[in-house]
Amino acid sequence: MPTVVFEDGALGPAVTAEAGAGRLIDVCDDARAPIVFSCRDARCATCRVEVVEGEQLLEPPARGERDLLERLGAPPRLRLACQAVLRAGPGLIRLRGVVGREG
Ligand code: FES
Repeated sequence: MPTVVFEDGALGPAVTAEAGAGRLIDVCDDARAPIVFSCRDARCATCRVEVVEGEQLLEPPARGERDLLERLGAPPRLRLACQAVLRAGPGLIRLRGVVGREG
């Protein structure tokens, strides 16, 4: 399974987690990652993360995530941590929280 690194930033210190299958939100919760969540349902966009590395280790956005990111005019590297699904297999995913920044 991928290793997920949450970079040090305005939201908190760097965290590294060994990920299991499932959604990124579960990794964030387990690792106490510095990512903020609110609705957890692709409505509020508070959980936006920039995928700095390892985008190929995430499934493409499903319709709800894609629709919200498009409405926000988000650049392609932004994902919703509450919606992004990890693919099986080894690798490194490096993320940066973007709450409070343009995005
Ligand atoms: S927590 Fe609201 S969109 Fe992810």
